[in-house]
Amino acid sequence: MRDFISMKDFTKEDILEVLRVAKELENKNEELLKNKIVGSLFFEPSTRTRLSFTSAAYRLGAKVLGFDSPDATSLKKGETLRDTIKMTEAYSDIIVMRHNRDGAARFAADISRVPVLNAGDGANEHPSQTMLDLYTIQKELGSIDGKKIAFVGDLKYGRTVHSLTKALEMFNCEFYFIAPDVVQIPEYITRGLDKKGIKYHILFDYKEILKEVDVLYMTRIQKERFENIEDYKKVAGIHVIDKESIVGKCKDEMIILHPLPRVDEVKIDLDDTKHAKYFEQAANGVPARAAIFSIALDLVEAAKSELPEKDIRKSEEVVCENERCITNFEETDNKYVQDTEHKYCYYCNRDIKK
Ligand code: CP
Repeated sequence: MRDFISMKDFTKEDILEVLRVAKELENKNEELLKNKIVGSLFFEPSTRTRLSFTSAAYRLGAKVLGFDSPDATSLKKGETLRDTIKMTEAYSDIIVMRHNRDGAARFAADISRVPVLNAGDGANEHPSQTMLDLYTIQKELGSIDGKKIAFVGDLKYGRTVHSLTKALEMFNCEFYFIAPDVVQIPEYITRGLDKKGIKYHILFDYKEILKEVDVLYMTRIQKERFENIEDYKKVAGIHVIDKESIVGKCKDEMIILHPLPRVDEVKIDLDDTKHAKYFEQAANGVPARAAIFSIALDLVEAAKSELPEKDIRKSEEVVCENERCITNFEETDNKYVQDTEHKYCYYCNRDIKK
């Protein structure tokens, strides 16, 4: 039994195993999950993640219970996430959870007796999206190793970017982070790149590097995560691509990905160009998530590497400074990870400076 919480929990070999199983399961109707029940808990809206997890579960023969909005649940009566997880583990064999709080997935996994699959926790991570992103890159470009990838848009709150960067650093990729300062890639993400000596560039405009990149990964500005709507208005609509700005100005084989939903950053006139792969990407969510279910429940052979033990400590004095962290909303153990030179929150991965 395995949880899927953070890309930090995977090695390159583990990732390649997931992609291998996804390929094996694509277009197969094996009832690997027959008699299993999936608990699908969506505390935040979703189209692709919820439906592709559900589709994968049905294709593998499972039944699905849960909710797509917390409004009709006992959360409305003040129930904690802890108790919601204790109940769902009693009713299901595996839990898929999307939550608005950073670190909620790690918290749920620690409580649950059944595997927890992180379907997005606040602005923190979205590892199942990463698996389908990597699956798409491998399928479209033949391999992932050494590719040049440009992330454009909201790199601060974009959990898909955080998880995908963590994965791609294992494939020796080169990164271009293209965003206005207020939504640029956080330091706690680039530190991992610095440590490994991986090349990256912090930029405002994508035009100057368009000819160099293999993957243009567009993202939506995440309006719902801004504390101040004026800050959102300052950055909304800055990076918009269309047919005219892309076709003939990039590598012939460059692909455009987007985790979707899009707002206005990718114009629909790009949809029928050979570069646009975002709908194929979303469709790849089904085999990728079928693989995740099967591996998490040990229903297929898939090797898992031993990771070095983390130095996890508990202390009442060391408190996560991230206001959006689950530690501020639930009764949690006050845990942090002591790394060689710094400490970070065990739940939401943010640096703890004090
Ligand atoms: N990519 C993604 O997470 O989409 P949804 O929010 O629609 O699930």
